[in-house]
Amino acid sequence: MAERAGGQPWWQRGAIYQIYPRSFADSDGDGIGDLRGIVDHLDHLNDGTPASLGVEAIWLSPFYRSPMADFGYDVADYCDVDPIFGTLADFDRLVVEAHRRDIKVVVDFVPNHSSDQHAWFAAARAARDDPRRDWYVWRDGGGPGRPPNNWRSEFAAVGRAWTFDAASGQWYLHSFLPEQPDLNWDNPEVEAAMHDVLRFWCERGVDGFRIDVAQKLAKDPQLRDVRPGEPPPNEDWQPTIHERLRRLRAVVDEYPDRMLVGEVYLLDLQRVIAYINSGDELHLAHNFTFLHLPWDAAAFRASIDGFEALAAQAAWPAWFLANHDHPRVASRFDADGQGPARARAVLLMLYALRGTPFVYQGEELGLPDAEIPPDRVVDVDGRDPERAPIPWRAPSQAGPGAGFTTGEPWLPITRAAEELNAERQGSDDASTLTLTRRLAWLRRDQPVLATGEQRTVDAGDDLLAWLRSDDDDGAGVLAIVNFAAQPRAVAAPPGLAGHGTLLLSTDPARDDGALTLDGLRLAAGEGVLIRIG
Ligand code: NOJ
Repeated sequence: MAERAGGQPWWQRGAIYQIYPRSFADSDGDGIGDLRGIVDHLDHLNDGTPASLGVEAIWLSPFYRSPMADFGYDVADYCDVDPIFGTLADFDRLVVEAHRRDIKVVVDFVPNHSSDQHAWFAAARAARDDPRRDWYVWRDGGGPGRPPNNWRSEFAAVGRAWTFDAASGQWYLHSFLPEQPDLNWDNPEVEAAMHDVLRFWCERGVDGFRIDVAQKLAKDPQLRDVRPGEPPPNEDWQPTIHERLRRLRAVVDEYPDRMLVGEVYLLDLQRVIAYINSGDELHLAHNFTFLHLPWDAAAFRASIDGFEALAAQAAWPAWFLANHDHPRVASRFDADGQGPARARAVLLMLYALRGTPFVYQGEELGLPDAEIPPDRVVDVDGRDPERAPIPWRAPSQAGPGAGFTTGEPWLPITRAAEELNAERQGSDDASTLTLTRRLAWLRRDQPVLATGEQRTVDAGDDLLAWLRSDDDDGAGVLAIVNFAAQPRAVAAPPGLAGHGTLLLSTDPARDDGALTLDGLRLAAGEGVLIRIG
């Protein structure tokens, strides 16, 4: 594994920033973001100075050829760029420009299903004896109108996970939309074809892959019904899933310094950690148990401790609390109007916990979900609010497209664009963008935040506290977040009573400098990083 200064691989060092290309930046005025728009804004992500976010890598949600039934997660050609987003030449330029700024490029890999418009599925559907038929999951039904089993689509609005194909008289499986037929990973030709997709993008210079619904790459070959209390037969099928992930890892290991991060959407930490603990499957797994926590200090502490207790020495956490599928933090944790403060505290957690921070575009601006009027709803699963375009500039100056587009944006831009746009926040010392930049660069200035050991400590009710340190004498960085909706006084954790130096607070009103830990009052939602010893 190639390593740079600091002895850590790149995917552990700093933040990996998720770009949802449709909503990041539109360069040609069609109202939909594109690859050239991303290139135009790379300096926002990392220009080598603390005036940028200093991200280590970008992860791009799908930009492949697609009919866009699931906005790109229905892939019609795994090895081409959709014309909405640009061309392969635009992609190559994006890789060059990102690498020039020391930004790694991670792309989405969607191996569980293709689009129904993919040439493979067109062939599979055309005739029962087509060689591609078995590349998808076809079965006879249990009688007229009765699908082969009781599996449901992950999208509640879709209902059952099977669609009847009248022409061939069989049903096909789709874990998501009917337009997203599941590929049959029990067929070795499918696995080999998907390995070639990884090689195609590695050859083009990408540094890693985010694997969409990684847990679904192995299912019960007998397709037995889902039964309460039993391991789900429609995902995480043991031990096949681990064998397949090992083979994916072997493919990316044909190239130096590549990384696999899995969307492992299992709400059981033990099962998630099994994907990273052996060291020869995924490098990182998104931990969805974390994303589903209530805003409660004890719950977060239990989750953090739970990961550390289960993880093998080499296993490395990937922290995230937002992506393009879930309400934004500033809205999700907005009880009592505390959303904006809590969104700032979440950023501190992501950057100061032991692990890789995954930051979803717009989190650095503290964006709330956008309001989507009924006639603008486009997603089948209610995910439009968190996918609204990024406001780069104030609408009063840049027009209604807020610097995202000169045209009509494909989804409405947040009403908060006038205050929360990137340009305005960039010159405001108290803004969430300034805070995020400071956190990112602090992680570089205080290497203990990237490399140090971690233990959670007691600091009082409603306070989540953890110490990052390199040695046993207690020196290091203490992080404390106040989860209460009121101010709370810190009770100095055992062995840490005494003085420290404030490195950063999420509350712009607090002064930097020396402080006494015991009795330190934190504002509602405030998070602090304190140098100890
Ligand atoms: C997870 C992706 O994040 C989501 O956006 C998509 O709809 C499903 N997988 C299906 O690909």
